[in-house]
Amino acid sequence: MRTLFQNANLVLPTDVRVGSLLVEDGRIVDVDAGKNVAVDETIDCTRLHLMPGVIDDQVHFREPGLTHKEDLHFASRACAAGGVTAFLEMPNTKPPAITIEGVRAKEQLAAKKSIVNYGFYIGATPDNVAELAKVDQVPGIKIFIGSSTGNLLVDQQQALEKIFAETSLPICAHCEDESTVRANAQRFQGTHDIADHSRIRDERAAVIATKRATELARRHRHRFHVLHVSTAAELPLLANPAPYVTAEVCPHHLFFNVDDYPRLGSRIQMNPSIKTAADNAGLWQALLDGTIQVIATDHAPHTLNEKSQPYPDSPSGLPAVENSLALMLDRVAAGQCSITQVASWMCDAPARVWGIVGKGRLEPGYDADLVLVDLDRQKTVRDEDQLTKSRWSPWHGVTLCGWPVATFLGGSRVWSAEDGFDESFRGRKLRFDHSRGGYWQTPGGIGTA
Ligand code: DOR
Repeated sequence: MRTLFQNANLVLPTDVRVGSLLVEDGRIVDVDAGKNVAVDETIDCTRLHLMPGVIDDQVHFREPGLTHKEDLHFASRACAAGGVTAFLEMPNTKPPAITIEGVRAKEQLAAKKSIVNYGFYIGATPDNVAELAKVDQVPGIKIFIGSSTGNLLVDQQQALEKIFAETSLPICAHCEDESTVRANAQRFQGTHDIADHSRIRDERAAVIATKRATELARRHRHRFHVLHVSTAAELPLLANPAPYVTAEVCPHHLFFNVDDYPRLGSRIQMNPSIKTAADNAGLWQALLDGTIQVIATDHAPHTLNEKSQPYPDSPSGLPAVENSLALMLDRVAAGQCSITQVASWMCDAPARVWGIVGKGRLEPGYDADLVLVDLDRQKTVRDEDQLTKSRWSPWHGVTLCGWPVATFLGGSRVWSAEDGFDESFRGRKLRFDHSRGGYWQTPGGIGTA
């Protein structure tokens, strides 16, 4: 099967070029194909941009156990419509994915239900290091150094040292210092003011935990990814990093700050909490200068009913997977960044951080997981249009310029704005090659060491 994506603005690793991309049996074979090449299908991409599918390396899809909030069917459709062709899912399900068997069970569920590609992290506990050392073909190990939704937590130094010393897979962590958060929560006991969430999960909690985790990584020379950096104060800990430390930021930490609580309330209650306008600006700058390499959503839905409980009973987390690419394309339209940078942050960098084989770039030999985007298309985000099961968005009412119009996996169209979903399509488990050394060692791309 040969498909020609004709006349596209091709978002290549370092520039955008008008041309035609040829796909054969699911793989990109040419990014400079002639018009007269014999093919089975031609897709006219005139005026549109063709970019690699987004790889969201931090999502909570709630299956098994919490499927009243989200599940793999709803979430993967939301991914496809958002231009996300692969996701890496977190272990705080019910039961949590803390054994090899638990991870393999989630993969089997995804094989049945997901229309995009997938991988599942294994979660660390104080005493499952033997499983963590044995598991293979997962993106990596997730540690909750501070607790969040669920009961996963490893904050004892001895247990953390053991995990960093005795495992070889890349590690990522939720970095908020548990004892700081608990002490702050004591001080604000009895509050129902949502703004206190950012005083309880404060800057200090984030800095202490990120410092602790990056020190562990450096001392053990262990590949480590700081999830959802939320403060400018953490950035010096990430600047000039050891080759094996990478970091990520989420759209809510780029676009929301404490001034938005009166308007949005618990819709923007997240862990780590959202911080100040100065933090928004610092995090943007860190993306632009390469201190932070990855954008991921931390898509973590709860129902609006759950969210409507008074703080602190309202749970932390928000859905974002179907809007993250549009949020960034809107910034391209505003001149804040380039589409090449967006492709680096959302497609290429996550593939390199997690050693995902054959994904993240428009290059011969790579899989044809693609998203066609219209940089001029304007659409307003609305709760009632959301495909994610909880059916709301903190960006409700916001008009964005730049939206996906079609999403392809292995060259097959799984969703288009015009025709909807190919409901029969099923994604595949991603393949991971951790021997390549991660972000800093894989060739090319912005920020290469
Ligand atoms: O606010 C959050 N909610 N942050 C996380 O890291 C986890 C998440 C959840 O699973 O609800």
